[in-house]
Amino acid sequence: MSFRPDVRSHYSSRRKALRGAAGLSIAALSTRLFTVKGAFAEALTPTGQSGEGPLYPDKMPRDTDNDLILVNDAITPGIGEITHLSGRILDRTGTPMRNTFVEIWQCDSQGVYRHTSHEERYGENYDHNFQGYGRFLTDSSGGYYFRTIKPVIYGTNGVLRTPHIHFAVSKNGERIFTTEMNIKDHPENETDIVFKRRTEVEKKSVSMDFVPLPDSTTGELSCDFDIVLGVTANDTDGGTLKGGIGASTWNRG
Ligand SMILES: [Fe+2]
Repeated sequence: MSFRPDVRSHYSSRRKALRGAAGLSIAALSTRLFTVKGAFAEALTPTGQSGEGPLYPDKMPRDTDNDLILVNDAITPGIGEITHLSGRILDRTGTPMRNTFVEIWQCDSQGVYRHTSHEERYGENYDHNFQGYGRFLTDSSGGYYFRTIKPVIYGTNGVLRTPHIHFAVSKNGERIFTTEMNIKDHPENETDIVFKRRTEVEKKSVSMDFVPLPDSTTGELSCDFDIVLGVTANDTDGGTLKGGIGASTWNRG
């Protein structure tokens, strides 16, 4: 089940990173063959959901590609433990969800989101080089890939939040799933306002290992997170693939 692209070759140069989600991903992902369909029919447990939360970008950053470490042509990278985050979007029968938009957003190393309410509060005291948001369109294998940082604790409105990365999945222009992915066994998880309310099955489904990337000389990490949706791929295709990202529910109206 584990999907792990050869991330070392993906980001060997800045130029490669700038190719964006489509160019970068398809070349990498197309080398993998998946034979999941059928083998896990009706056997997968859907990933636990949670709300979008109030910090989805209220205005999109200047760069929205899948490399959150570099914003456009910036020379200075974002600060943090660089993490190669990948996985697949599957339906509950194990069928890959193709042409599905995966969005992630998270705070920077200073605990600040790319959201007006946070940026105005912290002024210059946040990492302007961290993109904080990215999107990726899955190919036929359902795979996605981001380069980002290992999430950190942050506080908002007096509430301390355990480290997490927000995910949203859209199909044919409709938001069909949101969740928060956590660091497995992080000491703050069990007191976190969102995590502690999950069932044990849900906790397991969103708790992921961040492991050292083999042969990395700079301490980079990798993390695999497969998302299993409670739908079937046929339900969402409707015979016509339209693409697009579904609207935020929090920022709407
Ligand atoms: Fe959050």
